[in-house]
Amino acid sequence: MIKEKILVIGASGQIGVELTLALRKIYGNANVVASDLREENDLLKGTGPYVSMDVMNKEMLHVQVIRQNITQIYLLAAILSATGEKNPNLAWSINMQSLLNVLDIAKEEKINKVYWPSSVAVFGPTSPKKDCPQQTVIEPITVYGISKYAGEFWCNYYHQRWGLDVRSIRYPGLISYKSAPGGGTTDYAVEIFHEALDEKKYECFLEADTYLPMMYMPDAIRATIELMEAPAEKIKIRTAYNISGMSFSPKEIAAEIKKHIPAFTISYKPDYRQQIANSWPQSIDDSVARNDWGWHEEYDLEKMTKDMFENL
Ligand code: NAD
Ligand code: SER
Repeated sequence: MIKEKILVIGASGQIGVELTLALRKIYGNANVVASDLREENDLLKGTGPYVSMDVMNKEMLHVQVIRQNITQIYLLAAILSATGEKNPNLAWSINMQSLLNVLDIAKEEKINKVYWPSSVAVFGPTSPKKDCPQQTVIEPITVYGISKYAGEFWCNYYHQRWGLDVRSIRYPGLISYKSAPGGGTTDYAVEIFHEALDEKKYECFLEADTYLPMMYMPDAIRATIELMEAPAEKIKIRTAYNISGMSFSPKEIAAEIKKHIPAFTISYKPDYRQQIANSWPQSIDDSVARNDWGWHEEYDLEKMTKDMFENL
């Protein structure tokens, strides 16, 4: 069996913290190197090696990959949808160049596997709203969505042209309690839990009936690891896989929270993020991921809400 040494880039972010901890459980603490531009997240401290690194600095990245004998790279550094609309040039630059740096070094150093997440943000207003399929009309209207769609094709290109084993998932909005979200349109679904506990009320930046595809973090981490551990011949999509967890609106999650905190109230003050949310599908058809590598979600809205309150 090949002894893997994994580099996680963007390890202090919402997904990075939990993914790093999960990978350390499987591969051993010393074999998973966490790295980020910002300081090491408190939850990672003392659990394994940490390197402060800017993924935009290709030379430094290359040195780390060689010095640490890296065999797999998980690239999580990115600028998300809402922050991206405030600075489109920066979002394009970071989201694309980070990926190109990683793909190039992975090719050169013959890295075994690369993971890079895409997003449901690749879909736009012309994509089907309900049960949005794997292959359909894809015309994103955010710089984040454009960068994710372009990134999917770069991954596919490196796989087809150079045989690089690069794998990807189009995550829905992710809900978690361990680390804070980093500037997305779906962040309301995390904030609402904290405000419900602290203030018993929440002012939502999306309208009451805005349905979006969402997923609880334990499902997202499991999906990522299952995809990465699946035999290569099962991975037929080399752009990025649709996966689905649940879909709900602010009104529905508020009603679920009220079952735990009866005094909780929600009000609505939509901002620029409403337009982004309106451009995305309400639900996702993930039958291809189910058939190819056996994806199946475990959490629905009720089960997730219960677990969030038990852990927060
Ligand atoms: P996040 O913003 O919470 O974390 C990203 C991390 O990358 C941060 O810790 C940040 O400091 C780091 N980073 C940024 N620029 C960097 C640089 N130049 N060099 C090194 N590190 C840098 O984001 P996240 O929610 O954890 O998302 C991770 C990935 O998953 C991203 O590609 C994102 O697009 C994708 N994704 C996330 C969601 C979600 O709901 N969280 C949904 C779909 C896709
Ligand atoms: N949760 C992410 C965002 O809202 C989707 O990629 O940006």
